[in-house]
Amino acid sequence: MPTLRLELFVPGVGPEPAFDLLVSELETTLPLNGYRFEPGPNGRMLEVSGERIEREFARVSAWERGQRIAFAWRPSDADPAESSVQVEYRFEATDSGTKITLEYGAWRPSTPMEDGPERIGWFASGLLPSLIRATSPAGFGDWWTNRVARRPTGPAARKTYADPIYHRPNFLLLLERLQLAPDDRLLEVGCGGGAFLHDALESGCRAWAIDHSPDMVQLAREQNREALEQERVVILEGDAHRLPFTSESCSCAVTTGSFSFWDRPVEALSEIRRVLEPGGRFLLFTGTKELRGTPAAPEPVASRAHWYEDAELAAMARAAGFVDIRVDRPPLGQYARQAGLPPDAVAFFDAWPQGGQVLMARRARN
Ligand SMILES: C[S@@+](CC[C@H](N)C(=O)[O-])C[C@H]1O[C@@H](n2cnc3c(N)ncnc32)[C@H](O)[C@@H]1O
Repeated sequence: MPTLRLELFVPGVGPEPAFDLLVSELETTLPLNGYRFEPGPNGRMLEVSGERIEREFARVSAWERGQRIAFAWRPSDADPAESSVQVEYRFEATDSGTKITLEYGAWRPSTPMEDGPERIGWFASGLLPSLIRATSPAGFGDWWTNRVARRPTGPAARKTYADPIYHRPNFLLLLERLQLAPDDRLLEVGCGGGAFLHDALESGCRAWAIDHSPDMVQLAREQNREALEQERVVILEGDAHRLPFTSESCSCAVTTGSFSFWDRPVEALSEIRRVLEPGGRFLLFTGTKELRGTPAAPEPVASRAHWYEDAELAAMARAAGFVDIRVDRPPLGQYARQAGLPPDAVAFFDAWPQGGQVLMARRARN
């Protein structure tokens, strides 16, 4: 008798694409949680610490695309000789899509799971808190915010950020103000799928960019393949609060649509200042709180983002050591027209002339 069986009903997706999606989601997400899934008939599950493999705990024993993936799963650390348990994902077509079943065979890691009350204890205190968090309003809101904006992952996010059309007005405004030249070395923090980077590189400049979403880094690299091959751009996975770049290495820096998700903004701004050369210019674009609840900043994302008054933004830049600080809210309608956005989108930008907040600053000359 199996120990545990979970069923997920997936509408509108057939078993083969469901199989491929599950594999790709596990591949992308597990490393953010200390695990790695190596897919394929000889695949395995690993505990990892960054790039370092700590141990293997499961091996693929069956790999049938669109039908099932089975693992020989090591049940516990207690007894290395303990025989493995079969853990299986099954994919079955339904009238509306696919049913994915996850089944743990006779999963009895050493003695406690032989004991009925302890089995209930493991279920309630080991497994259910994750499930309850994933399905609670707060937990689901956090997951959704990460998924679409704070750390975008998955096919929908990849599609959006490959061509983030509603960000194009900001991009045009920033490029107009940056006035990039071929001898510029640009830093971009929170580059998403690399669309701004792509436009910026048309100036002939070189660029260094980071994002903390592995999916976005991969997409940004795909979108800027030519510049990568020409070694004109470096795109790394990294955190805004600890930039993996040398001090005073860039002539200008930009961040757009990312700042509102940074937990320690002054610390991150200080990092940007560190990477800028003396006299280097800095431009930051973020949405204003007037946008909260509009299609540009809907819930549950809006209440998880940080919103600042103009004076607060200027004060943070000052605290991070910037000089020549200016904050303004330029109307974006003209840039929406210039970007060729559809009429309803242009109308939105016209209706929210105070929607964007731009911080301009410099690192002081020595
Ligand atoms: C709303 S998206 C904007 C992406 C892109 N700049 C654009 O305008 O299309 C925000 C991006 O900032 C990244 N981000 C958020 N917080 C970050 C942090 N602390 N360090 C690095 N990247 C971060 C996210 O992963 C995401 O790609």
